[in-house]
Amino acid sequence: MYTAEMRELSKKVEETRSQRIGINFPRMSPEDKIGVLNENHPDYSDKGFMYLKHGVNKGARVPNELGELLEAKSKLVNLEINLDKIDYDVDVLVIGGGGAGAAAALEANEKGAKVLITTKLRFGDANTMMAEGGIQAADKPDDSPAKHYLDVMGGGHYTNVPELASTLVKDAPSAIKWLNDLGVMFDKEKDGTMITNHGGGTSRKRMHSAADYSGAEIMRVMRDEVRNKEIEVLEFSPVIELLLDTDGKAAGAVICDLETKRNFVVRAKTVIMATGGAGRLHYQGFPTSNHYGATADGLVMGYRVGAELAFADTIQYHPTGVAYPSQIFGALVTEKVRSLGATPLNIHGEQFVYHLETRDVEASAIIRECNVKGNGIPTPTGGYGVWLDTPLIEMIHGEGTIEKKLPAMLRMYLKFDLDMRKKPILVYPTLHYQNGGLLIDKNGQTKIENLYVAGECAGGIHGTNRLMGNSLLDIIVFGRRAGIHAGENFKDIKIKDLTFDHVRKYHEDLENNEVESSQFSPMILPIYTHGREK
Ligand code: FUM
Repeated sequence: MYTAEMRELSKKVEETRSQRIGINFPRMSPEDKIGVLNENHPDYSDKGFMYLKHGVNKGARVPNELGELLEAKSKLVNLEINLDKIDYDVDVLVIGGGGAGAAAALEANEKGAKVLITTKLRFGDANTMMAEGGIQAADKPDDSPAKHYLDVMGGGHYTNVPELASTLVKDAPSAIKWLNDLGVMFDKEKDGTMITNHGGGTSRKRMHSAADYSGAEIMRVMRDEVRNKEIEVLEFSPVIELLLDTDGKAAGAVICDLETKRNFVVRAKTVIMATGGAGRLHYQGFPTSNHYGATADGLVMGYRVGAELAFADTIQYHPTGVAYPSQIFGALVTEKVRSLGATPLNIHGEQFVYHLETRDVEASAIIRECNVKGNGIPTPTGGYGVWLDTPLIEMIHGEGTIEKKLPAMLRMYLKFDLDMRKKPILVYPTLHYQNGGLLIDKNGQTKIENLYVAGECAGGIHGTNRLMGNSLLDIIVFGRRAGIHAGENFKDIKIKDLTFDHVRKYHEDLENNEVESSQFSPMILPIYTHGREK
């Protein structure tokens, strides 16, 4: 329920609505885009960033909160782990129980590998499960992977690693087919044709969706498949450090059972890191759309064994997080809402930006409207937001569209007595995605032999800004590729003795570079009430 003041302000939206139907607000010029980004996007300000003093990316710029974890000590310093006692011996260890991990595990299993998935929460507790809007693939007659490629590169300001971006788009149609064949219930026309929509920065309608719970649907099917294939899954068992062998190759991990606090040694011929993002680090004080376990663990552990980071200073602030009600502050309002025609409006009921600019530009324009121009709508908790004119969707596409295409969003707001079919909703950017991560090649391999990375903790694919729907796509494309490659590669691997030498060397490197920290990492879970673990 809106306050009386908000109800009054929302009348401006109603007053201007009829003038906006059928009128496309002009897109920003390239110069204006650069201007709005430079002056408003959190990545473009020095506030909130530090420079790494150690490791393979020494001198690189990273967000403060991530830098602190990268400079923290290993949890192993307080533990006695016997590397002669192997608790699990496998061909492929998959770290992370989200979409990338599940896709990798399925493909490695298909190749005949003995696979173990270990995950810090329940299998499926991941950003994949929370993805709403859809997954991109150029599989319609008016589209092509080449067009998709240009959109991906344009969205990423042409910084993306070209080989990764082209692999993403070329594998996309087969990724959709793979999911469809597994049983994902994509939205389809009566004749079975996939329904596709636009996202910000797309030149063709190529967003495949399952209503507004596309990620949950994809995760449901992949999780079932992992269970059908009887792949072993350890839940509530985060990895606290990677293990190398005496040749310096990835060879397993130490895991911690969160319930019993016991530690276990996994020896693995290949390791696939799929630990996801970092939203729960709340960079620059932003709320997040991410799940509770998104604490950059993969970046920290990968960096410790010498894997390189790429684009770790570029973060995606989704333009439309919930600004009100405060109980769901920061939760995702899918881009599909704008894709269906809802427009962002300021306190005067005026549109101030084209509704489907790329995310970094759209978010920057909203930040500017609220924080610089003073045109935001105040919320009862002292924040600001802009209106997203959701009733416009029903006027454009007909009554019942929101219930049909955005059922989860409609229900989320109805719980708070807000009917988005009748009233606009209030939004503000929310920390949504880690654009960068550990640098991979087209098979998900890092420079550390036998260490693969897939999903949000991989870097290079999206450059400095990802487009909507390319994350659900990359978890499938690179999850599968890593699984297939590791599932073939393990057959030729002979593991030497396991060692913690890399951890010792990492601590020496910290000391030599005069880095002092009282923290331990990986963080595993955010500790909102007690402060960080010392
Ligand atoms: O807006 C969304 O539904 C988010 C999609 C994505 O991050 O790809």
